[in-house]
Amino acid sequence: MTKTLTVLGLESSCDDTAAAVVRHREGAAPEILSSVVAGQTTLHAAFGGVVPEIAARAHTEKLDHCVEEALREANVGLDGLDAIAVTAGPGLIGGVLAGVMLAKGIAAGSGLPLIGVNHLAGHALTPRLTDETGFPYLMLLVSGGHCQFLLVRGTDDFSRLGGTIDDAPGEAFDKTARLLALPQPGGPSVESEAKKGDPRRFSLPRPLLDRPGCDMSFSGLKTALLRERDKLVDRDGGLHVQDRADLCASFQAAVSDVLAEKSRRAIAQYMALSPATPTFAVAGGVSANMTIRRALETVSAENDVSFLAPPLSLCTDNAAMIAWAGLERFRSGERDDMTLQARPRWPLDRGAQPMLGSGKKGAKA
Ligand code: KG4
Ligand code: ZN
Repeated sequence: MTKTLTVLGLESSCDDTAAAVVRHREGAAPEILSSVVAGQTTLHAAFGGVVPEIAARAHTEKLDHCVEEALREANVGLDGLDAIAVTAGPGLIGGVLAGVMLAKGIAAGSGLPLIGVNHLAGHALTPRLTDETGFPYLMLLVSGGHCQFLLVRGTDDFSRLGGTIDDAPGEAFDKTARLLALPQPGGPSVESEAKKGDPRRFSLPRPLLDRPGCDMSFSGLKTALLRERDKLVDRDGGLHVQDRADLCASFQAAVSDVLAEKSRRAIAQYMALSPATPTFAVAGGVSANMTIRRALETVSAENDVSFLAPPLSLCTDNAAMIAWAGLERFRSGERDDMTLQARPRWPLDRGAQPMLGSGKKGAKA
């Protein structure tokens, strides 16, 4: 096996079309030679959420341009690559198919090996790309679509300690923003309103704190917020600017408290493994929230665990994490072939019980 590996990664499982080139020489720090992300926020803005058909069409249109740009920026041709890695799930099937088909086409045309990557593994292995974190470490994946604690023991060894049983926190932020007529994505707008508000004015619930373990629930929080909003509207005929700020601050405090307490419990389980260099890493768009980030930092410090938050561009959906996860799989001798399937559902922890959106087809995540 070559000591230096250069891998092209493709990502198209939700609403970001991305391509990236990552290089790694054994014994040295990994290098991101390029990371191109074409977002679709404006395409979905009028619909209040991601429309799968629109997303799939946009991926089909943009993917090859992103690949060209990623190769150009990296100053690498197909002949300078060792493998093609692609997100093969979980995600919106049209988008995942677009990526897998393109990756197969490039692999067939160039003769390069093909590697299918689990999108969640891409997020979960990011601390190794950014900080060369050693196993085992604890990971909180917290975004618009995911919320789970993962014990990462190896490139293909993940245990889910707990996760949301309904909405992901980012989704709850987005719905809260909609209920308060704030712009999407909701996270940044709710956070900015919350800065002007009183987090103690409304006592919103902290769901599932009374239950042992690391599972979470965020959908009731949004309903409680709706009730408070409606009470104010009934009483005053509308919402004052200060009411809205206080609602945002109270909502954010509730999410932050739940994530902090569940992190405390996940850290306790992780520390039972006596890790050599205890590390708690976070990824996903919600980790941009400063109140939440500070709360997680505090919990880590209290438990003598290093807190790690990769740069936001690598916390949110990107292809560098897919190239990296593919590179790690490739190094350990794994390969896929033209039978690689696009999988809308693909739980990382194969032994865990299905939870979020586990419909007839099995666990989504
Ligand atoms: O990881 P991401 O870019 O995409 C996926 O969901 O996969 O995360 C986007 C989510 C959105 O729901 C957005 O509202 C939330 O992350 N988000 C935030 C903040 N910035 C983004 N939530 C809370 N506070 C923020 N500052
Ligand atoms: Zn993601």
